[in-house]
Formats: sequence, structure tokens, C-alpha cells
Amino acid sequence: MKKIVHTISYLEFDSIEELSPTDRELLKLAGQAAITSHAPYSHYHVGAAVRLANGKVFTGSNQENMAFPSGLCAERVAVFYAAATCPDIPMETLAITARADFFEVCDPVPPCGMCRQAIIEYEFKFNRKIRLILSGEKGKIFLIEGMDTLLPLTFHEKGLIK
Ligand code: THU
Repeated sequence: MKKIVHTISYLEFDSIEELSPTDRELLKLAGQAAITSHAPYSHYHVGAAVRLANGKVFTGSNQENMAFPSGLCAERVAVFYAAATCPDIPMETLAITARADFFEVCDPVPPCGMCRQAIIEYEFKFNRKIRLILSGEKGKIFLIEGMDTLLPLTFHEKGLIK
């Protein structure tokens, strides 16, 4: 028996001004996308923006439903929109942010588990990491160099084949 330890590392920025101009722009687009959220139940408005390798940007926001599981997170709306529109172009960077109606979002917004699994699918598809920029309305910003950082021991298609 042996103990296996996984560690993760990422960059932490104090403000959006520390990001590169292209990353800053992407995060701003994610913030604008949050305005289009349909969140009458949680009052939590998430915005996501994914930049593809060809520079095209696709945005998404969380779309809730009165039958709760029928709704979808902002990240999957953005990433599926990109994948359905440009199926052959790898994804380069995904920015995520949120605002809430009744409190200030002061911590970077991490993707939920289902979104992690959905997003990593495109890392495998293109054999290329997707950079993640996570932000709240204020406070620190995290830059993570790939979804594999947030999803160690990922379920992989190899598990489906003998
Ligand atoms: N939400 C996202 O859009 N992305 C996440 O990664 C976590 C949660 C949405 C789902 C729901 O509409 C609201 O935030 C509260 O959970």
C-alpha cells in the first residue's frame, strides 16, 4: 500500500488589471454575459465566456428552470454553444464570474462538478488544455492552466473500452 498525493497549483491575481489584455477582455465579456442569466430561483447570475484558438468568443449564462434539473450552468451553455458552432476549433480559455441579487460575490467562482466533466471533454477532444479564469465581483482572480488541475482522476473514455 502507498499513499498517493495530488497537489494543484494556480495563479492568484489581486485585480483584473494584472491580467493580460485578452484575458481581461474575456473576463469582462463573462461579466456582461451574467446579465443575460435567467435565475429567478437562485438569484445568482453566472456568466461565462470561452475564447477559441481562432480568437472567436462564445458566451453563456445560467438558465434556470422551474423543474430545477432542467436548467443549465453558464459554463456549459457557453462551451456547448462554442462546440456546436465551431466543432473543429480548440478552446483556449474559459472565463467565469458571477453576481448575486442579495450579496456581493467576493470569491472566484469555480465551475461545478458537472461542468468540470463537461469542459474536460473538450480538453481530450483537442488534446489541449483549457485555461480557466475564475473571478467574483471583487477580490482575487484565479488563473488555472487546465481543467485537469480541477479534476484529477478524471473519468475517461479509456474506461469504456476493454
Ligand atoms: N451555476 C453555474 O452557472 N455555474 C456553476 O458552475 C455553478 C452554479 C448556476 C446554477 C444555478 O443557476 C445557480 O448558479 C445557483 O446554483
